[in-house]
Parts: sequence; structure tokens; C-alpha cells
Amino acid sequence: MKLLLLSLGLGLACALQDPEEVPVQPGFRPEEVEGPWQTLKLGATDRSVIEEGGAYRCFMTSIRNLGNGNMNVTYFHRNEHGKCVEEFFIGEKTDTPGLYTFEYKGKNTLTFVAVGSDFTIMDFQNDNLDLAVVELQVRPPSLSVSPPGQEAYSKHLSRRGIGSDNTEDLTVQARCPSPGS
Ligand SMILES: *[C@@H]1O[C@H](CO)[C@@H](O)[C@H](O)[C@H]1NC(C)=O
Repeated sequence: MKLLLLSLGLGLACALQDPEEVPVQPGFRPEEVEGPWQTLKLGATDRSVIEEGGAYRCFMTSIRNLGNGNMNVTYFHRNEHGKCVEEFFIGEKTDTPGLYTFEYKGKNTLTFVAVGSDFTIMDFQNDNLDLAVVELQVRPPSLSVSPPGQEAYSKHLSRRGIGSDNTEDLTVQARCPSPGS
């Protein structure tokens, strides 16, 4: 019985986060990700969530660090009537710098996989939906990514087993909000 419990516990711990699959930016400092951002590219293990109308098709606008170590992440999202609305979630800090949790259609783990001077790679894992979403963010007003950012993004997609047919390039599609919407 004890052995069974032990192996169940280990199984659960592994299911939650595999460090091989989701590394966190070494020496992560929250100040480095603070401020305005925009989402350039998305990838997901289930393509439907990042397509038009999908729950994870989000256009991030900013990250603000709160005094208690949590972060306020704001983004635009098209609601069921096709209108762009601004929303936010509060990422709650964990014992691991660069790793946050929040509730959105179940429990999500947000990991800052890579942080550069002009980009960041964010990984979202939703255990209830058995889903992984990868986002490439850049600093506005740039709508392009530097080679190190692109390389970090591609590398993480392959770690996650997400192929190029399961990605969306938001620069070439109707952005939310778009001028006049
Ligand atoms: C998070 O940011 C949004 C947008 O700026 C704001 O409306 C909201 O009150 C903030 N929430 C917290 C808890 O800071």
C-alpha cells in the first residue's frame, strides 16, 4: 500500500511539470519581463485553442509586477460576439522564480522559458485540459523577432512536440484590437 501511494505521488509530481520539457529561464528576474508586450506567435498541442475564437488566442499587452510577488498580465481576447475585450489574470508566484500559477479553464502553470532583451517565451500548461500553449512575445512597436528569440521559440516548440502546422503567426492575421475595432 505504501509503495502504491509513493508511486502514485511520484507519477503526479512528474505529470505536473517535466523540467526537461519546460525549463525555466535561469536567473529569472521579474523586472525583466515587466512592461508592454505584444504577442507575435502561438503554438499549441491542440490547434483549436489558438485559432480564431479559441480560448488561448490572446494578444498580450503588458505585465505588471505586484508588490506581493504576483504579476498582473493583461491581454486582449475576442469574445463570443467577435468583439475585442481587455482581460487580465493574476499569476501567483511559486517557490520557483519564473514559474506562476493561475486559474483559467482549470489550473494553469505559466513558465518563463526564455527571456531576452527584446523577447520572451511563455509556456502555459493546463492540466485539466491536458494542454500546452507556447507564446512568443516581443516588445512593441516591433512586429518582428530577433534571431535569438526565433531560435528560442523554435527550440521550445520542438521540446513540446508542437509541429509548425500547430502554430499561428499573429502578425499576418487580424490583430485584436485592430485599428477601428
Ligand atoms: C490588473 O490590470 C488591469 C488592467 O490594467 C486592472 O483593471 C486590474 O484592476 C488589475 N488588477 C490587479 C489586481 O492589479
